[in-house]
Formats: sequence, C-alpha cells, structure tokens
Amino acid sequence: MELFEALRNRTSVRSYSDQPISKEDLTRIAEAGRLAPTARGEEPWEFVAITDKNTLSTLASLGQNTRFLGDAAAAIVVLCKESKYYVEDGAAATQNMLLAATELGIGSCWIAGDKKPYAEEVVSLLNAPKEYKLVSIIALGYPQGEITPHSKRAVDEVLHFEKF
Ligand SMILES: Cc1cc2nc3c(=O)[nH]c(=O)nc-3n(C[C@H](O)[C@H](O)[C@H](O)COP(=O)(O)O)c2cc1C
Repeated sequence: MELFEALRNRTSVRSYSDQPISKEDLTRIAEAGRLAPTARGEEPWEFVAITDKNTLSTLASLGQNTRFLGDAAAAIVVLCKESKYYVEDGAAATQNMLLAATELGIGSCWIAGDKKPYAEEVVSLLNAPKEYKLVSIIALGYPQGEITPHSKRAVDEVLHFEKF
C-alpha cells in the first residue's frame, strides 16, 4: 500500500472480527514502531504484544474508553523508559504501528496512555520494570463491518506558510 493510501485509510477501528492476528503480522507492526524517530537516539521503547484473552479482558476493564479491547484480537502496549522525550518517542512509534496495521488490513485504535489513572497498573500487569511509562495501548483486530475514515480539517485550513 502506498504511504498516502495508508494515511487516508487509517482510522480508529473499535469493532473486530474473531480472526486472529499472526505473530508475523504483529512482528511486522512492531518493526514499523522500532523505525520511528527518537530524540537523542534513545529508543526508550519496549513493545508488549498481547493475544491472551484474559490479559485483553483485564486491559478492557481499566476504563470507559478501553472496553473494546475485550473484542480485539491483539494489543501492542507501548512502554517507554522515563526520559525527557519519552512521550514523543512513544507517540511516534505508535503512529508508525497504526500505519503498518493499516497496510496489513488490520484495524487499530490508539488508546491513551501516559498519565491515565490506570497507567501504573498496566506497567505492573505486564511485569515491566517500574521506570517504564505507559504511552499507549494499540488495539488490533480485523475490522468488522464497513470502515469510513473520519473527515479531517482540510490542508488549506491547517497549513500556514511563513507565519500563523
Ligand atoms: C493520544 C491519543 C489517545 C487516544 N485515546 C483513546 C482512547 O483511550 N480510547 C479510544 O477509544 N480512542 C482513543 N484515541 C483515538 C481517537 O479517539 C481518534 O484518533 C479520534 O477520534 C480521531 O479518529 P480517527 O483515529 O479515526 O482519525 C486516542 C487517540 C490519540 C491520538
């Protein structure tokens, strides 16, 4: 898939079929994540791929906006070692992975994240060292039903040349 096609097709998908996601595809998605830009070359990220239904259910129960994780085939949790730019680094890796999932025909949704009340619970649930911060949980699954990407503000509206 061409880059702009993936950019246009990517949209948050929260309804999934029962089809599992292969380890190869999860690895391919993580491969996109690890190629993200990273401040000072730190690569503070670790990605935890989860397919276990019990763990997905526990994650689903964390908050109001995480419930659909219970129907996801998988999730990739982005954890970053605390550093000056860990949020930006983890966010860049997250976006790369959303695009890679789109290329593979896999629906995804970015779930916050950093500073959420459940952030520390996720870190300990996954047995990550305490210095790691939750940046995002990426819900993954083959989409159920039609996907219509959300419309976004036009480029003329958001782009300013030279001055705001
Ligand atoms: C930092 C961040 C946190 C988000 N957290 C959640 C979340 O907790 N739950 C959720 O359902 N969607 C979450 N989203 C997805 C947004 O709701 C979604 O991107 C937005 O509605 C725009 O729709 P689109 O992704 O289809 O373009 C999050 C997105 C971002 C960038």
